[in-house]
Parts: sequence; C-alpha cells; structure tokens
Amino acid sequence: MYLMGQEEIEAVGEVIESAQFMRYRGGEGGYTERFERALCAKVGVEHAVTVTSGTAALICALVGLGIGPGDEVIVPAYTWVASALAPLAVGAVPILADVDETLTLDPADLERKITPYTRAVVPVHMCGFPCHMDAIMAIAAKHHLAVCEDACQAVGGAYKGKMLTSIGQAGAYSFNQFKNITCGEGGAVLTSDPLVYERAMIYHDCGCFTRSHADRIQSPFFAGSNFRVSEIQGAILGVQLTRLDGILRRLRERKAAMLDILSGAKALSPNPSNDIEGDCGTTLPLLFDTEAEAKLFAEKHGLGRPIETGRHVYTNWEPLMKQQVVHPKMNPYEWAHREIRYADDMCARTLELLSRTVYVGVPFEEALDDARAAARRLLE
Ligand SMILES: Cc1ncc(COP(=O)(O)O)c(C=O)c1O
Repeated sequence: MYLMGQEEIEAVGEVIESAQFMRYRGGEGGYTERFERALCAKVGVEHAVTVTSGTAALICALVGLGIGPGDEVIVPAYTWVASALAPLAVGAVPILADVDETLTLDPADLERKITPYTRAVVPVHMCGFPCHMDAIMAIAAKHHLAVCEDACQAVGGAYKGKMLTSIGQAGAYSFNQFKNITCGEGGAVLTSDPLVYERAMIYHDCGCFTRSHADRIQSPFFAGSNFRVSEIQGAILGVQLTRLDGILRRLRERKAAMLDILSGAKALSPNPSNDIEGDCGTTLPLLFDTEAEAKLFAEKHGLGRPIETGRHVYTNWEPLMKQQVVHPKMNPYEWAHREIRYADDMCARTLELLSRTVYVGVPFEEALDDARAAARRLLE
C-alpha cells in the first residue's frame, strides 16, 4: 500500500450509509461497476471483472480461457505460488520454466518447456518488471497457446506503451495490501475477449444465471463459484485508481534517479529490463557476478536477495512440490497426459540468478534527493 486517505474513508462511509453492500443488490451502476469501467479505460481493454483476490482473478481468467484437465500451463519458477496453483484449481498442471536476468519468464525456456499438451502460458510481471512480451506472444502464437498475464505485482505497469494485462488474451491484477493500489484483498480479470469475459463473469458469481445481466450473456452457462467483491471494495478501488498514476510517477522518478547514480558505478550493474519506461519502479535489482559478492553487498547494506524471500522461489512451494491435491479423486496430475514430477534442481538457472541478485527498495515517501542519497550510500 502506498497511499490511502480521507477519500477512501468517505467512499466507504457512503456505502455504509447506502446499506447496499452487494454489488448486484441495487441493480447495476454501483461503485464496483464504475471502478471496472474506469479500469478498462485506463488499461485499454474491453472488460474487467473485479474479484476477491489476484488468485481468484488468475483462476477466473484460466476458466475464461477454457483451460482444464489434461492441459499444461507454463509458469515461471520465480513468482508467488498462486501463479502456479491457479492452473491446478481448474484441473490443469503447472509446468515451471526459468526466468532470465530480467527476473521474468525466459522466452527460450518457455519454448523448451512446450509439449503437445501445453495450452497456456502465465508470464508474471514480477515486482513490476515487465516480461519480454514480444517474444512470449510470438512463441504463444506459433504454438497456439493462450497468454494469461499475471500482473498482480505490476498494477499500472506497461510494455512498449501497452498496459500490462492488455497484451495477452487475459490478465490478472491483485489489490491485496502489498500491491500498487489496494482494498485490503481484491483482484481483477482484464480481457478484451468477450468469451473470456463472459466465462469469468459466470464463474465468479455461481453461474450468474439469476442476474439481470444474464440475458446479455451469449456463452453457455455452467456451475461457478463465488469470488464477488462487495461495494466496500469497489468504492475503495474507485478512489485508489485515481491515485495510481501519481503513485507510479513518484516511484519511477525515484528509481530512475537511483539507477542514474548506480549505473554510472562500474562495480554495480542493475539487472536488465525488458522496458524500463513501463517498469513500475517499485524495486531496483542489482546483479552480481557471483553469489558471494551479492551476499557480501547485501549484508554490508542491510539489503535482501530474492533467493532469501523464500516464498517466491519454487523450491519452497510445498503444496506444489509435494503435489498435495485437494482430493485424491480430483487430482490434475492423474488427468495429465504424462507423468509430472517436480524436483529442486528443475529450474537451477532461476536459483542461480536469484542468488546473484540484490534488491534495493525504492523509497516512496522520501524526497527525491533522499532517494539519490540512498543510492550514493550504496557506492560507499
Ligand atoms: C505474482 C503474484 N501472482 C498472484 C498473486 C495472488 O494475489 P492475491 O494475494 O491477491 O491472491 C500475488 C500476490 O501476492 C502475486 O504476487
């Protein structure tokens, strides 16, 4: 969370006074729907469905894309486990691929991991770093794969002038407390594909066959679940969205100033970026030649290495690595066309890159000169 204030308090107050908490209770045109329209306009997509989390957004997007049992979905080995668990939730199996120096999905490894059963890829714009979408989209087109962008950590980020989530057939945002904008817990599916949108709508609202908008849905109805948000979340997000540009401008300005100072120093090399203009500016990664050098630098300056964050590294994803499925008879690994086994060394390049990288946090609240001073201290 970067900014939250009186406007959000007032918006929540209005919802409480109205006593209309369910987004569909008072008909259409409420807070959540207005937020969705504004989000679509900002991202440049036709449709958005606000849901309860980024994980729910990924699941609804995969349902929307028609991914299911027997399908393989390629996911990077460095992300939050939700990116890899979402395919399991729809009956498909995640296949892990390495990241490259940009700390996002390595297009070459993506292509190596494709089998006759691969149906989709989930490029993750980790820490607001945009993936190499040109290469990923070209590979996906060549192999007829659906692309579901996980921009949970990159709300508002872009790649070559296009907003993240608007490049693949579908995308997911998270609005949990640690994201660029937040309502505590929340997410959104973004797409311009009417079929993906309708299927996500159906799935996120128990089939949505009773709603007033049901007669506008052309796709066949099916049993869904409940990932609806309340108007409280919709009202907060409506305000948060108006803050997004300012938040990103401030982060990007500080990161650019710090990069200027650090890139000039021969001893330090920032990880390459697929598009530094579109990068969200939340994190500044530095790549060292050896793990020992990275460790020494991190210890000296009280910084962390992504290898140490634990939960974002595939070797720590216990439910996945041990294939702990929800029920023995609902086991996507049994439905797969080949035996799938995970091993600690299956994405060794990712581990090696994460161990050689040090993360420098970009200060949001501090003045620009203080951000510059923080960068200069790293050169001492
Ligand atoms: C890359 C990534 N994907 C998906 C998610 C899931 O989002 P949520 O926590 O809102 O379910 C997160 C959340 O941390 C994330 O960082």
